[in-house]
Amino acid sequence: MNLPAFISSDWKWDSTGQLLVGDMTVSSLAMRHGTPIFVYDRHMAERRYEELRAALPSRFAISYSVKANPNPAFLRFFLQKGCGLEIASWGEFFQAQSAGCLARDILFAGPGKTESELELVIAHGIGEIHVESELEIERVNAISKKLGVRTEIAVRINPTEEGQGGAMRMGGKSAPFGIDEERLEDALTLVGRSSNLDFRGIHLFVGTQILDSGLLLAQYQKGIDIARRAASLMRFPIQTLDFGGGLGIPYFVGDSELDLDLLRKGLSGLMSQIENENAFASTKFMIEPGRFLVGEAGLYVARINDIKISRGKKYLILDGGMNHHLAASGNLGQVIKRNFPMAILNKMNHEAFETVDIVGPLCTPLDTLGRSVQLPIAEVGDLIGIFQAGAYTRTASPLGFLSHPTPAEIWVEDSQDFVIRRRGIAEDWVRDTQSLPSMVGPVS
Ligand SMILES: Cc1ncc(COP(=O)(O)O)c(C=O)c1O
Repeated sequence: MNLPAFISSDWKWDSTGQLLVGDMTVSSLAMRHGTPIFVYDRHMAERRYEELRAALPSRFAISYSVKANPNPAFLRFFLQKGCGLEIASWGEFFQAQSAGCLARDILFAGPGKTESELELVIAHGIGEIHVESELEIERVNAISKKLGVRTEIAVRINPTEEGQGGAMRMGGKSAPFGIDEERLEDALTLVGRSSNLDFRGIHLFVGTQILDSGLLLAQYQKGIDIARRAASLMRFPIQTLDFGGGLGIPYFVGDSELDLDLLRKGLSGLMSQIENENAFASTKFMIEPGRFLVGEAGLYVARINDIKISRGKKYLILDGGMNHHLAASGNLGQVIKRNFPMAILNKMNHEAFETVDIVGPLCTPLDTLGRSVQLPIAEVGDLIGIFQAGAYTRTASPLGFLSHPTPAEIWVEDSQDFVIRRRGIAEDWVRDTQSLPSMVGPVS
């Protein structure tokens, strides 16, 4: 079966056509844990991390972006590598701490932070808050004053047009993220007047799923320019320059991988540029990637539950769909619906023979995971896999829609498999609603 060229050569199958994760066949994992499941290969995450680390100058730190995949196994994995964590909510803060992350190694970015969230993280001694609006600067200051502490902040800037890009743009245009570059001076004046804030630096993040190293470097250059201005306005050297995440992975035919060698060379050029500047003498440069680190290590696995032909078109109906993997259905912000890489995982050595649509079990035409997919002849019971499924899948999907069981998550290291999240079933949801008021009782 032909997989797109960008699918990692780490994926192998045995002589009977069974896809392997580590040393285990996916069929054996499906047998042991049921379906649907997400399966993660530790070694793939490891390889990606090492490759990225090798491309970054030594002055760069990595904070893993929890939103990409908040499973504690990943959080612990990146903490063991010496990464910090970037969070966007109190829930993520809680998960980060439960995974063993010290509060000082956590940074909190993202719009719409509530007062109670801010108070909780400040009271716990969070490392840095990356503020996204003037009101937020005031709130962080007021809360810090109330708690009698000083809080370290960086200001997230939404840059002007140049240096923009990415499949999902968050800056370089009107956006709810960060403070417009045009307001840099006003924002910094406010920070300077705030008695309980320590200014650390600048955060810039304008787009996710970027596959062009040149574009990333242009954004980093823009970040350096803004930080240089900020240092001069504040008369204070930059301690943190956070370039955000956004490093992409290929999903579709025609996509090519991010050129890490180009990134490495460009970054070393940027580091030589600022080498002798006081503004950057003690700067911690950082990135906060999510997708790049975990996307390729994940596989979504669902079983074919029914096959039918309607008016000449063949449908494979799976036991999971957009409720577990919204992005694959094309409903997570995509303008054009294209197929994610997918295969029959127990027939990897069979030739593609027929064209089918692959759908989930939800009562909506939106629940289509693959359109006109070329596959070997499929049978009920076969396992369909969607590759590149480690980031923005399970937690970015409407898990409760139609109340099907939620997928378990399985972590594989060589020949060992670990359940890192158990399957959620209907009983859990009933338990969660047990405090219903009596007036919502049964009709007599
Ligand atoms: C503030 C912030 N940092 C980091 C990330 C991670 O981005 P990516 O997964 O594209 O690396 C995001 C994603 O939306 C984000 O909003």
